[in-house]
Amino acid sequence: MKRIGVLTSGGDAPGMNACIRAIVRCGVSCKLEVVGIRRGYCGIFEEDFIKLGSRSVSNIIHRGGTILETARCEEMKSREGMRTAIEILQREGIEGLITIGGDGTLRGATKLAKAGGVKIISVPSTIDNDVYGTDYTIGFDTAINTALDAIDKIRDTAGSLPRPFFVEVMGRSRGFIALEVGIAGGAEDIMIPEVETKIEEISLDIKRSFERGKKSFIVIVAEGDEAGGAFSIAQQVWERLKLEYRVCVLGHVQRGGSPTAKDRVLASKLGAAAVDALVRGMSGYMVGELKGELAFTPLRETWDKKKELDSNLLQLVKVLAG
Ligand code: F6P
Repeated sequence: MKRIGVLTSGGDAPGMNACIRAIVRCGVSCKLEVVGIRRGYCGIFEEDFIKLGSRSVSNIIHRGGTILETARCEEMKSREGMRTAIEILQREGIEGLITIGGDGTLRGATKLAKAGGVKIISVPSTIDNDVYGTDYTIGFDTAINTALDAIDKIRDTAGSLPRPFFVEVMGRSRGFIALEVGIAGGAEDIMIPEVETKIEEISLDIKRSFERGKKSFIVIVAEGDEAGGAFSIAQQVWERLKLEYRVCVLGHVQRGGSPTAKDRVLASKLGAAAVDALVRGMSGYMVGELKGELAFTPLRETWDKKKELDSNLLQLVKVLAG
């Protein structure tokens, strides 16, 4: 193999740059030419390629976002698009492609790998952590620490001027961010899509907590919760309690910022492992980390199988809320 490509696709995540850096520098040390593809899979169709050498990735390890930019690409949905993508990659002499991203990126990579003709390895990167085959995705640790910083600040005001706070965090259709941030931030309750939200129950919890003398009540709401977002849940609680409340939607601040050490290390390890996998002739796998060890999972399983979250943590929240 002489030439490989790398792209970032879907929602950007802190640590993507550290991963690009690892791929380029490991590629160069294996005597490979590395080509960056801009704006995710769209860059293949637009033939937007850029040669990357060791110096192209200087001083990016600490930067959020992605120097290659990202996109969600319509052409990847058709069989015709898949054939075109493979033709273009082959014409460019790209024999192996590393895709960095979450669920949508992995679905695209699965189709490309199935079409054949170019070897495909994926690296999981999304703040949502909702990818099967890896304990953590690149970007998750930074996102939960960003959210935690905000929640700590909210706690200061929530405890000084007592009112229930409903804080909405990202996570698409899963509750990984909400659960982890809820535990770390000492939340009184957590609403996630994986568990039915009972408005009656949460209303009673709030009422009893204030009666017990608690000064603050912070509810972390996952954006994908089936009872609606934080505004909707807060309104439903208000209809029962008639208690003044505040809502805070953290939004895209969770996607930005300098990656944590944990995300940079994970990104560097997985980027290096992806290059190594291509050099060894592998294709059709995602490289992740399970219990501290590198783990290769067939691409289809990464989005077809459901990653479980630790439901014991939910029980723990109730106990720790005191
Ligand atoms: O998948 C990452 C993510 O940030 C989700 O948590 C969120 O639902 C979505 O992307 C937001 O997407 P966009 O940036 O297109 O608004």
